[in-house]
Amino acid sequence: MTRMAIRADLLDFTSAPPWGSTGLGGVRWRPDHWLLIDGGRIAGAVPGEQPPGEDWQRDDQRGRLLMPGFIDTHVHCPQLDVIASHGKGLLDWLETYTFPAERRFADPAVAAQGAAHFLDALLAHGTTAAVVFPTVHAVSAEALFAAATQRGMRLITGKVLMDRHAPDSLRDAPHDEGAAAERACEALIQRWHGQGRNAYAVTVRFAVTSTPQQLAMAGGLLARHAGLYMQTHVAENRDEVRWVADLFPQARSYLDVYDQAGLLNERAVLAHGIWLDAQDRARLRDSGAQIAFCPSSNLFLGSGLFDWPAAIQAGHQVSLATDVGGGTSLSMLRTAAEAYKVVALQGHQVGSQLSAWTALHAATLGAAHGLGLAHEIGHLGAGALADLALWDWAVGPVATHRDAVARGQVAGLPAQDLHARVFAWMLLGDERNLHRAYVAGRPLYERGPHGPRFASGA
Ligand code: GUN
Ligand code: ZN
Repeated sequence: MTRMAIRADLLDFTSAPPWGSTGLGGVRWRPDHWLLIDGGRIAGAVPGEQPPGEDWQRDDQRGRLLMPGFIDTHVHCPQLDVIASHGKGLLDWLETYTFPAERRFADPAVAAQGAAHFLDALLAHGTTAAVVFPTVHAVSAEALFAAATQRGMRLITGKVLMDRHAPDSLRDAPHDEGAAAERACEALIQRWHGQGRNAYAVTVRFAVTSTPQQLAMAGGLLARHAGLYMQTHVAENRDEVRWVADLFPQARSYLDVYDQAGLLNERAVLAHGIWLDAQDRARLRDSGAQIAFCPSSNLFLGSGLFDWPAAIQAGHQVSLATDVGGGTSLSMLRTAAEAYKVVALQGHQVGSQLSAWTALHAATLGAAHGLGLAHEIGHLGAGALADLALWDWAVGPVATHRDAVARGQVAGLPAQDLHARVFAWMLLGDERNLHRAYVAGRPLYERGPHGPRFASGA
C-alpha cells in the first residue's frame, strides 16, 4: 500500500478531558499538519510547512478538520426503516414500528442489502466503527459481519436473543430450552469472532424479552469465550423498569438482573441507564461496564434525561451513541449537540455543562478505551489504524459566519479560543460537513461536487 499524507487541522485526544473544562487538558490540537499514513496505519504527523518527501502521496486538504472516525456504541441496523416514526413511547414503539421492521431481516437478501445500506450510511456520517444490534435472525448478524469485512470496518455485533414477549417470528424457540439459540451464537462466534476486525457481542435485547434461562445461557457464553462483548438495554423508560421489576422480583434493580446472570464485565455496553441509582452506578464502575448515552433517542421516545455528571462522580464509563431508530440521526455531531442540551436541562451548577471536549472524547478515544480498542481506533497517534473523518468546519451561511467569528475574522468581535470554535462546529455541524471517510487508510466515502460516492472496499 502506498504511503499517504493528508494536510489538515488535526484534532484528537490523548486522555479524558476534565469534566466541564474548556482548556486543552487531554486535547491534542495540531493545526495545519500532515498526517502520515503507511500501510493503512498512522505513522506520525509533521507541520504543514514541512511536507514529507516524494515517496509520500500528498493530499492537501488545508482548511479542513481531520479527526478519528466516530465510534457509535449503540445503534440498530434494521431500524433505519423506521427512523422518525411518530407518536409512541418505548414499549408501544417497539410493538408498532420496530418488530414489524425487524421481521423482514429473516430474509437473507433483505439482511444483506440492509447491512450494506446501513454501513455505508454510517460512513456517510463520519462513523467508522460501531457496536450494532441486528435482529434475532442469525442471518442478519452474518450479513453485518460480511458487509463490515468487505469494507474493512471495525464491527461488534451478535445475534439478538429474545425468547419471550415478542412476536412469534422474532422469538428464539423456547421449547428446546434455548439450545437452538445457543448453537446459533456458538456458530457465529466460531465463524466471526476475532476474524479481521469483527468481534462478537452476546446481545440480550433487554430483560423483558429474555427468560431467566436465556439470560443464564448468555452468561454461559461469556464465561466460556474470553474476549466476547455484551450489549443490551437497561433502565431506559419508567414503564419498562416497572415491568422488569415485576418479572424479576428477586433482583435488587434492573441492572442487578444482568449482574446476577453474569453479564457485566469490562466489555459490556448497556444503552441508556437513565433510571439507575447510586448502587447501580458503583456496580457499573466496579465491573468496568459502560453506559451508551443515546440523547436523541431519549428525547424522541420521551424516556428521560441521562445524568452524565452523576456517572462522572460515580466513575463509570460513558460513551455516546445514536440508537437509531429510537434515535433520530446517525450523526454523532447531532448526537453530541443533543447530549449538551440534555445536560443543560438538568440545571447543574455553572461550570458543569458538557464541553465539546468531553463529548468528542466520548465519541472517539473514550469509546475506544471502553471497548478495549484504544490500540486500534479512536485517535491519531502512531500505530492506530487510519480510520478517519475529514470535515468541513462550516457549511451554509450561518455556520460559515459563526466560524469566522470564532477565528476573529469579523470586525469588532475578538477571536475566540479553540473550544469555542469546536463547540460551534459540533452544535451546527452534521453529515453535510463530512467531506471524506477513510477506513484503514482507504477512502470509502466522499462527498464530491456531484454528490456522494461510496467504495465498498475489498
Ligand atoms: N429496548 C429494547 N429494545 C429496544 C430498541 O430496539 N430500542 C430502544 N431504544 N430500546 C429498546
Ligand atoms: Zn437501542
